[in-house]
Amino acid sequence: MELLRSRRDLARLPARGAGQPALVLVPTMGALHAGHLSLVEQARAWGTVVVSIFVNPLQFGPGEDYSHYPRDLDRDLALLQPLDVAAVFAPDAADMFPQQDAVTVSPGPAAKFLCGASRPGHFQGVLTVVAKLLHLVQPQVAVFGRKDAQQCLVIAEMVRDLDFPVRLVDLPTVREPDGLAMSSRNAYLSIEERRRAGCLSEALQQARQALARGERRPDRLREILRSRLAAADQVEYAEVCRVPDLQVPHEATGHLLLAAAVRIGRTRLIDNLVVRVSATGIRDVPLLAAGDSES
Ligand code: PAF
Repeated sequence: MELLRSRRDLARLPARGAGQPALVLVPTMGALHAGHLSLVEQARAWGTVVVSIFVNPLQFGPGEDYSHYPRDLDRDLALLQPLDVAAVFAPDAADMFPQQDAVTVSPGPAAKFLCGASRPGHFQGVLTVVAKLLHLVQPQVAVFGRKDAQQCLVIAEMVRDLDFPVRLVDLPTVREPDGLAMSSRNAYLSIEERRRAGCLSEALQQARQALARGERRPDRLREILRSRLAAADQVEYAEVCRVPDLQVPHEATGHLLLAAAVRIGRTRLIDNLVVRVSATGIRDVPLLAAGDSES
């Protein structure tokens, strides 16, 4: 496994092109957990895997957790070592963003809602770094966790509108035994907060069950979500949205995202379920193109 610590080191990336396996990028901010490792393991099915580890300053707002976001490169490398990863690209911020007031990528319409409404500038920061990583690594495939559903959709809009030659894949969320979605931020939770954090996945499951029983009113589904999130200290949003445009539908059918963001203590947690609701029932589907072809 090659460790590439700067943009210049990317000259040592595995060869890509005719006759070579596809290059598959798994972008991360480190603090790897079972969710990331599952992305990496599945990414191998598409080709030679490159993992990026970079805590991107551009996607953190003032007062957010950039300075104390968990960073432990040695631990991350030890976790990746057994996974047949060809290279880890772990640059520092000065190498990635040497200019102040540099050019950024302005997100499209999917960034207006949900996390985009409560974290101004966040998706601009995400797109800027993802665009840069895609240019630097030039993968044929890039793999993202479905837990950051809106991020996947905002990146998909960029890739479509700016013609990036890359295939995007979203892969399922990995969960703790009580349903809590794996996240690097779970490490911030106290024991008592950790117990309450279970309400997030529980609320989403309750809304999913209501859909399965035939509930199609978005208002009612939103009420179910909110009532089950009573253990959270704050509910930032709890929504039923259409995929891919994230508009609230008149009727909860078709390709849907059930999504919520809460604060438990000082920790902000997000989670979602992606489903397709049709006359024949409800099933879990991906967000991106593969999901559409399943309809
Ligand atoms: O999902 C993440 O970890 C980050 O938002 C990403 C995609 C690596 C960009 O910094």
